[in-house]
Amino acid sequence: MAVKHELEDVEGVGPATIEKLKIAGVLSVEALAVTPTRTLVEIADLTEEKASSITRNARSLLNIRFTTAKDVLSKRQNIGYITTGSKAIDSLLGKGIESQALTELIGEFGSGKTQICHQLCVGVQLPLEKGGLGGRALFIDTEGTFRPERVIAIAQGLGLNPDEVLGNIIYARAFNSDHQMLLADEAFSLVSQNNVRLVIVDSVITHFRSEYPGREALAPRQQKLNRHIHQLLRMADIYNLAVILTNQIQSTPDTFFGNPNKPAGGNVLAHGSTYRIWLRKSKESRRVAKIIDSPLHPESEGIFAITTNGIIDVDDVKH
Ligand code: GTP
Ligand code: MG
Repeated sequence: MAVKHELEDVEGVGPATIEKLKIAGVLSVEALAVTPTRTLVEIADLTEEKASSITRNARSLLNIRFTTAKDVLSKRQNIGYITTGSKAIDSLLGKGIESQALTELIGEFGSGKTQICHQLCVGVQLPLEKGGLGGRALFIDTEGTFRPERVIAIAQGLGLNPDEVLGNIIYARAFNSDHQMLLADEAFSLVSQNNVRLVIVDSVITHFRSEYPGREALAPRQQKLNRHIHQLLRMADIYNLAVILTNQIQSTPDTFFGNPNKPAGGNVLAHGSTYRIWLRKSKESRRVAKIIDSPLHPESEGIFAITTNGIIDVDDVKH
């Protein structure tokens, strides 16, 4: 891991600016480097010129600049994978949920999004040879549906010590969209200091949808959501970790042809996510996972089951 820089190391950032940045939730050089200039002008009372100069300085401190395709390949060779517990889902993406990427789980209520999140919080802690990354998870819960009891059951199913597993999950409840973004900013410093290899936001869209209803609110909502998604993408990239977002289905009754249901969040999520997995209910505990958007995998489906001890393949369900 590279040397850790603090905000005061950025040229042109004095104590007064640091104070304002911190109040606005920009707590690290990484967060500063990815905050748009216009936002900096607002939150830190800076001139446009000054804001863009400190962004540049933050980026150069972190070495964010042009690179070669060879470097890109060597960075990609560090990609790690987290098992979902089901080979059927893992194989949709090759070997499981990837680090350095943002994977979106889309589906109607009860389709298994939150259950997969719980499973991954445990899965990420497994050693490499068992399909994990030997790291911690950070869970941002916007709906209040995180259940430690489910984590305990999944850990027991994998023969892990539940107490230890619970201790390795950093949790925060986000009460509104501003708070959610603030938590993501704070996460920048947490992840680097706590060997966090998985960040989950379940669900990414709920607060945004309820706080910005109606067509007039769509543009500001999408702008803000875009900032949030890019915060998370940068985190995945800088710290070689996996980001999981869950998303809801939105119905468009005016559709005459094709599927009237589509993922919420529009183009911002469609473009921001590296991978999109659509989950749907099938018979009893069965669920179908379909990869719908990936730069390098074909569209395909896999069937899995939700059990007391977590996510498994249908063939492994005990009858
Ligand atoms: P929303 O957040 O409402 O949009 O849904 P979701 O996609 O997050 O659904 P979630 O992952 O919470 O899945 C809920 C389903 O998981 C339930 O309907 C149950 O079928 C199943 N489930 C949850 N807990 C258990 C459990 O302990 N045992 C078993 N067998 N199934 C469970
Ligand atoms: Mg859920």
